[in-house]
Amino acid sequence: MTQKERSWEKRLAGEPNQVMMRFVESLSFDQRLYKYDIQGSIAHAAMLCEQSLITSDELAAIKTGLSDIQQEIEAGTFVFDYKDEDIHMAIESALIAKIGAPGEKLHTGRSRNDQVATDIRLWMREQITVIQDKIRLLQQALVAQAEKYTTALLPSYTHFQRAQPVVVAAYLMSFVEQIQRDFIRFQNCAGLLNWSPLGSGAIAGSTLPIDRDATARSLGFNGPTANSIDSVSDRDFCAEFTFDCALLSAHLSRIAEDWIIYSSSEFGFIHIDDTLCTCSSMMPQKKNPDALELVRGKTGTVYGALMAMMTILKAQPSGYNRDLQEDKVHVFQASDTIEACLDVMHAVVNNTTFNVEHIEAGLDAGFLDATALAEYLVIKGVPFRKAHGIVGTLVSQCEQARCKLSDLGLDQFKTQSSAIDEDVYSYLGPASVAKRYASAGAGGPKQAQTQIDHWKTKLTTRN
Ligand code: ARG
Repeated sequence: MTQKERSWEKRLAGEPNQVMMRFVESLSFDQRLYKYDIQGSIAHAAMLCEQSLITSDELAAIKTGLSDIQQEIEAGTFVFDYKDEDIHMAIESALIAKIGAPGEKLHTGRSRNDQVATDIRLWMREQITVIQDKIRLLQQALVAQAEKYTTALLPSYTHFQRAQPVVVAAYLMSFVEQIQRDFIRFQNCAGLLNWSPLGSGAIAGSTLPIDRDATARSLGFNGPTANSIDSVSDRDFCAEFTFDCALLSAHLSRIAEDWIIYSSSEFGFIHIDDTLCTCSSMMPQKKNPDALELVRGKTGTVYGALMAMMTILKAQPSGYNRDLQEDKVHVFQASDTIEACLDVMHAVVNNTTFNVEHIEAGLDAGFLDATALAEYLVIKGVPFRKAHGIVGTLVSQCEQARCKLSDLGLDQFKTQSSAIDEDVYSYLGPASVAKRYASAGAGGPKQAQTQIDHWKTKLTTRN
């Protein structure tokens, strides 16, 4: 088809300015929507036929033409021409070139405005399942690691200062919970977006008897959206999806940050397999956790996409505006980045070991058993606030004497509280503390095992 033969250009005088054409095209990035565009077009054409707006022969020709185009795109033989502006025009032009007259009827009662809104929803609905599957794989890897470390101890940190002892499994399971909320957020996003804007036309619908229920049903939507003006401009689901990617990205960056620190010589808590580390071009001794640093760094890319998406939506006049074309740039960016981060985190988690003995050898530092000692005093009848003060004093004495709480003699304990007895020693030390955790969800071996058991069953299902 030549430029002049494009019906949508009859209105304008002269050949379109090439700088403008290159500027407004979206084909370079929306061609990945081809499958959904064709799926939507087939549903639309079938409805047109049901409504006697096209004949069944025309429908058959449209279907064959579209499926040939899909095959050509998938085989890499389809020639994309940016002058077609976007994937919708590219496919329609190709269809008309292929089947002639019936192809010219496909756009009956439809606009690219409702078409693109439908395509992104179809794409996103599927993409969400891809991301969710990757979240599940990462959860599986974390649970598998947790199973190996149900009794091995780890200092937990608040304010990045040593806090209380936990088992490594409890630490690992904390990430399973975090990313489960991401899984649910994506699920909610998929639920909310699953309404069909198709048939809303450019903004006000159509005077033709378009059956929106039928297209909605055949595309697996819950039903048609209620208002055509809202439908062509609604990209709330894009903002939501990008936010879900951003928060997941934040969670992944937290694991990454921990493990970058844990793998340092200063900590030596974990060993990341060499295959997942990089070297320095100058310093021959280096083994760097670049993959994790990039998971952390790419959070910036995803947050950027979210900020862009929110800004695109702000203060647009109602109805469709071309600004909305930019939505895809950022939605795809967020989605591709989060997929890549999930893949690499999965590989890193699978290929990391905790240096259990090394961690254990350093557990004496930081008075990890201080809170448990205060709680011991509570059991002996001392009000918690008093117990807190008593243990605080004992800790500062230990700090001066450069010893740990369990090094204090009973007489020294007694100078601070007569409630302390000989049995105190069985309450001290990180391992005893971890074993004594009694509250649900605490950092001990029992609670970690409960969580592991729960997740092992849950991870076999897709909810
Ligand atoms: N490529 C456009 C987009 O992504 C499709 C809709 C264009 N509509 C229009 N009337 N110019 O939003």
